[in-house]
Amino acid sequence: MEGALPARDDLASLLKWYVEQGLDETIGEEAIDRFALAAQPAPAAAAAAPQAPAAPTPFRPATPSPAAAPRAPVPLESPQVVEDARALAAGCATIADLEAAIRGFEGCALKRTAKNTVFADGLPTAPVMVVGEAPGADEDRLGKPFVGVSGQLMDRMMEAIGLARGDGFYITNILFWRPPGNRTPTLAEQAMCLAFTRRHIELVRPKLLILAGGTAAKAVLDTAEGIMRLRGKWTSVRLDDGTEIPTMPTLHPAYLLRTPASKRQSWLDLLAVDKKLKELTA
Ligand code: URA
Repeated sequence: MEGALPARDDLASLLKWYVEQGLDETIGEEAIDRFALAAQPAPAAAAAAPQAPAAPTPFRPATPSPAAAPRAPVPLESPQVVEDARALAAGCATIADLEAAIRGFEGCALKRTAKNTVFADGLPTAPVMVVGEAPGADEDRLGKPFVGVSGQLMDRMMEAIGLARGDGFYITNILFWRPPGNRTPTLAEQAMCLAFTRRHIELVRPKLLILAGGTAAKAVLDTAEGIMRLRGKWTSVRLDDGTEIPTMPTLHPAYLLRTPASKRQSWLDLLAVDKKLKELTA
């Protein structure tokens, strides 16, 4: 019958499907008709950029806050947004400036579904900087990186080589906002946030850098090589002034929780970190 609600089982399986696809957040009271939005004329900013690819549908919150200042729609995930992020990051002279710039950045759609901006934890004067992938649900809720079960495993492993979160290691992620359903961040999202993360590494200037997991390793090292090939081998990240930061890609602690037999490999990576750090600080 027309107008009848779908059967309860159908709704349940639709919801299940949404969750499997990573749609685990409700961000408005009403559904958005994206076909109708797409039919609207492109925003002036996007039209003025002939080199930009086909303008994506501009994001519009379903229930705009009356307090929100009117803003030209940002053509999200366009190359221009990445350029904007780079320019913004380059202009940050301190870590506090960088944090403020990230908190004020509106170019990444993930920010609209995240509860918090997750910047970093620990002291930036620590000798080791760890870069992971993206906040999960716990990190999003608390606004701090690596506070869930995988973060606790990371802390225990680092403590085993004498490095406590705080003055032993400083920790951040490539992404500052949780991707819905913990899906892998898109390359556009990574490129945008990486502009800030690169500056973050420049400003922190750690003695050693650890890249936790394939996404962080591939993004920071700008390689298509998988983590299984990258891990355990020293490489380096070159800063703008030519300084090379010794860098160790390793397995992500979430992977270790799923595959405990791989902890042995991670342990070897951390022993290499311990040895290098002792050499550097001798
Ligand atoms: N996984 C990450 O890569 N980062 C976090 O902050 C939490 C889990």
